[in-house]
Amino acid sequence: MCKKTVNIAVLVSGGGTNLQALIDAGKSGALHSGTIKLVISDTKGAYALERAEAAGIKTAIVPKEKGADNAGLEKAILSLLEENGIELIVLAGFMTILSKDFVSRYEKRIINVHPSLIPAFCGAGFYGLKVHEAALAYGVKVTGATVHFVNEVADGGEIILQKAVKVLDGDTPERLQKRVMRLAEWKILPAATETVCEKILEGRL
Ligand code: GAR
Repeated sequence: MCKKTVNIAVLVSGGGTNLQALIDAGKSGALHSGTIKLVISDTKGAYALERAEAAGIKTAIVPKEKGADNAGLEKAILSLLEENGIELIVLAGFMTILSKDFVSRYEKRIINVHPSLIPAFCGAGFYGLKVHEAALAYGVKVTGATVHFVNEVADGGEIILQKAVKVLDGDTPERLQKRVMRLAEWKILPAATETVCEKILEGRL
């Protein structure tokens, strides 16, 4: 008999290197208490979708409606989550901010990776490369990444894991982004996902 694992949906918008880290962790056994059942993108043509397909994972696209609120997009995501029996949502470079209503349906069941040491350089307007531009402009000598639960405050939910990364002389936002991904994000996102899945299976969350 197969061991019960937590059904995971990963929500993406772009390149999907964090999704790849999760896929690789599933293959190596580092992520064994959860299974990625579905990858949902709010962006057509996101490279993350190719990564999912190459790993044999079901994909769906829920395009953003220009100028509208995200009600239609959220409704479409909710149906997909229900149809696929999803128990944990992992935001891996997902650039849509989910509404309070959406988030309250999945309390302690949505986690996000953010490319800074929260509470620095986070919240509305801080995403992707902008986070690293802000860190360099401020002149911090240490930055990093955070995985946290998602609540109604942007980047405000309980912290699960963090990892620090040094800023080096001559860093550009792009160089810093790559180092933070490689040394922090790709490690702590799979680790935090496994921890959360384990706790869900054991009824501790
Ligand atoms: C990652 O650095 C992730 O932390 C960030 O976007 C990038 C996505 O890269 N997310 C945010 O800024 C969310 N606030 P990926 O598509 O290669 O995983």
